[in-house]
Amino acid sequence: MKVCVIGTGYVGLVTGACLARIGHQVICVDNNEAKVKLMQAGQSPIYEPGLAEILQQCIAEQRIEFTTDLQAGVNHGDILFIAVGTPALPNGKSDTRYVEAVARGIGEHLNGGYKVIVNKSTVPIGSGNWVERLILDGLKKTHSALTAVGAEVPASDGGKIAEPGSPALPEFDVVSNPEFLREGSAVYDTFNPDRIVLGGNSDRAIALMQQLYDPLVRREFSDDSEASPVPVVVTDLASAEMIKYAANSFLATKISFINEVANICDRVGADVVQVARGIGLDSRIGDKFLQAGIGWGGSCFPKDVSALVNTAEDYGYEAPLLRSAVEVNQKQHFVVVEKLQQILKILNGKTVGLLGLTFKPDTDDMRDAPSLKLIEKLTMLGVKVKAFDPILSQSGQSHTLANVLIESDVERLAEGCDALVLVTDWQQFQTLNYPRLAALMTHAILVDGRNFLDRSTLEAAGFHYTGVGH
Ligand code: UDX
Repeated sequence: MKVCVIGTGYVGLVTGACLARIGHQVICVDNNEAKVKLMQAGQSPIYEPGLAEILQQCIAEQRIEFTTDLQAGVNHGDILFIAVGTPALPNGKSDTRYVEAVARGIGEHLNGGYKVIVNKSTVPIGSGNWVERLILDGLKKTHSALTAVGAEVPASDGGKIAEPGSPALPEFDVVSNPEFLREGSAVYDTFNPDRIVLGGNSDRAIALMQQLYDPLVRREFSDDSEASPVPVVVTDLASAEMIKYAANSFLATKISFINEVANICDRVGADVVQVARGIGLDSRIGDKFLQAGIGWGGSCFPKDVSALVNTAEDYGYEAPLLRSAVEVNQKQHFVVVEKLQQILKILNGKTVGLLGLTFKPDTDDMRDAPSLKLIEKLTMLGVKVKAFDPILSQSGQSHTLANVLIESDVERLAEGCDALVLVTDWQQFQTLNYPRLAALMTHAILVDGRNFLDRSTLEAAGFHYTGVGH
């Protein structure tokens, strides 16, 4: 099928590349010329395991193209994905101006046959209808004949119904198709989805979407091609949009729950790692997202939970449970600071080394990373902060971080430190030469913000080791 993906951030680029990989003909549109050039040369502007290989393969097989020309993309695609960012505004609401611009732009460029416009961006609940109205606005602008006859275009009819006597509008329908990709395993998640969610009110559009995803539903590209087909959840637009918020809010709340349990474990002398195992084996609870530590971050959880709280407020509901999940998380970023204070007493003038900076391993993404709050707090307390991150230390991005000295390797990081804090659970931190690091430090203290390292190994290496609730 012919697909156009507008916006080549994490979601757009992974979606475009994977749709090309499963056999579709894809054009990706982005207004950043430098980025488009990079992708045309087969390079991925983001670090995501497996993505660069897929891009190169699909470029070689001429199944994917990159352009800044929206008109070319709209002409090409029978299915047009909107995959631009909806970052959080300072008031917690989503900034939807990019979605707005793209939706209008699509409307202005629509011509010819029937198109399905798919909302992949995480938009406020109710946006499906809003996008439809914006597309119609755009359409009206270019189809001046329509405005000339003064036809009022019904907002919810997806351009199917024009007033009697007015020229026929290009036909389209809007579908909400939220993504559930995790950064660092976005390609894997695309090929191995737990479910596919399609929200819309047009059978024709849903049928086309099912055709598009058929190879994924049949698990043709999955690790386990024998498994039963991927469930497709077909809903109305608003429910599909809510599914995305509810899924992320549930997972974030689950982590805040185990973090709260960890804080209680610390006080009563229990071990949250054992507790998480003990409760996670109850199939009603499940063992995932019960890893206590420094709290959640990233581009989705903080933004989506705040946006859901905000939406609830707009409708007169306070959402106390979700507010608490956020509050627990904000405090959780500082639990390791309290631990450092307990061990070192005075922090002013001390040097602390951070192992990892990104909000999770296998990504270079620093959006809402707990490390940023930690650096801010430690600096405020007079601590000199150094850091090593397997990706950021190598990429040029580190200079953008304030108040932290980025070291190029772990030994340089350890030199002269009064304590190390493990912030991100990068696999390679499990096999560092800890006896060597202990010897380089002023005090061999390690606070494990992810309960990721083996206590006995660290103690044998000469470290004073502390986890979170562990
Ligand atoms: C998340 C959702 O998982 C994904 O479905 C959605 O599409 C986007 O948001 P992502 O932000 O990439 O994905 O990261 P995820 O792996 O979910 O981790 C989110 C945060 O929670 C990270 O900071 C991670 O370190 C933290 N986390 C995760 C924990 O602290 N404990 C856990 O047990 C799991």
